[in-house]
Amino acid sequence: MSLTSISKTMDRADLDRPECRLVLVELFGLMRRMQARGAKYSSWYGAVDAWPSAWEHINRGPDYRPHPENPDELRIPWFLLWEIAWLVANTPIRPGARILDMGGAGSLFSCYLASRGCELHTIDLEEGLCVEAENTAKKMGWRVIGRQMDMRRLEYPDAFFDHVFSVCVFEHLPVSGRVQCNAEVARVLRPGGTVGYTFDYANPQAFGRLDSPDDVWRQFVEPSGLRPRGGDTFIDTGHRYLASPQCFGFGRFMRAMAALHALLTGSVERPKMLSGATSYTFGSVFMEKGPA
Ligand SMILES: C[S@@+](CC[C@H](N)C(=O)[O-])C[C@H]1O[C@@H](n2cnc3c(N)ncnc32)[C@H](O)[C@@H]1O
Repeated sequence: MSLTSISKTMDRADLDRPECRLVLVELFGLMRRMQARGAKYSSWYGAVDAWPSAWEHINRGPDYRPHPENPDELRIPWFLLWEIAWLVANTPIRPGARILDMGGAGSLFSCYLASRGCELHTIDLEEGLCVEAENTAKKMGWRVIGRQMDMRRLEYPDAFFDHVFSVCVFEHLPVSGRVQCNAEVARVLRPGGTVGYTFDYANPQAFGRLDSPDDVWRQFVEPSGLRPRGGDTFIDTGHRYLASPQCFGFGRFMRAMAALHALLTGSVERPKMLSGATSYTFGSVFMEKGPA
């Protein structure tokens, strides 16, 4: 098994790598500029302007440590900083590239790409987020085209994009939808184009179903027919940072009740619940399309 691959689970130490630090410096500058101009981006839960819920706080896990330089810890936990920095640092983004961000309308990631001068196409099921994305782009002078669209049916011509990204959206799709989407992505990507995704890995919730390198291969690489980039094996570093809110309770009694509820309703995978393996993390996968 290859020991180095950019397709891997999240590691807090990745943020200290020089290539990630570089992205973070740009990102923090952008966040400050946007704040100063009253321009908005969505929180890691995909909401604009909403006050974060207790749910979000619990989801960060009991050992959560803020990133010391993060100018917006309330909306953007270090996990999302990792997703952005890792995808950007590991993708050779062409100047002026045409990019698709799936499920990312109004997100900090899409703002960052647009701020670098890319032509950013961003889609989401929520129309409001697409409108918000275009309003923000007007305010900031960026090229952003937001469209309400289901990522399982991409309404774009063949070979249209240089790069396709998606940040923490695939876990919201059924496995059949993940497969469908990846076949579509291969179609809209130009030869030589790249793909980079992040997603929940080992999330115990019943809909998670991304628990092993094999799952990553079967749901992303195989249905797309694209080739892995930066190493052909997905590496699970073993770190787990996030907590599933379904398993949370104040004190032992409440926790037992939450566990019982999750078991009875089947909202959390029973073997994971019973073995206590309910923390999870994020993962990344990188692919590319061969030349024509
Ligand atoms: C966790 S949030 C967004 C995270 C965002 N990408 C970011 O970087 O912060 C997930 C988003 O995916 C969108 N979404 C879910 N299923 C989708 C689908 N089938 N097609 C397009 N967008 C979808 C939701 O509406 C929501 O805005």
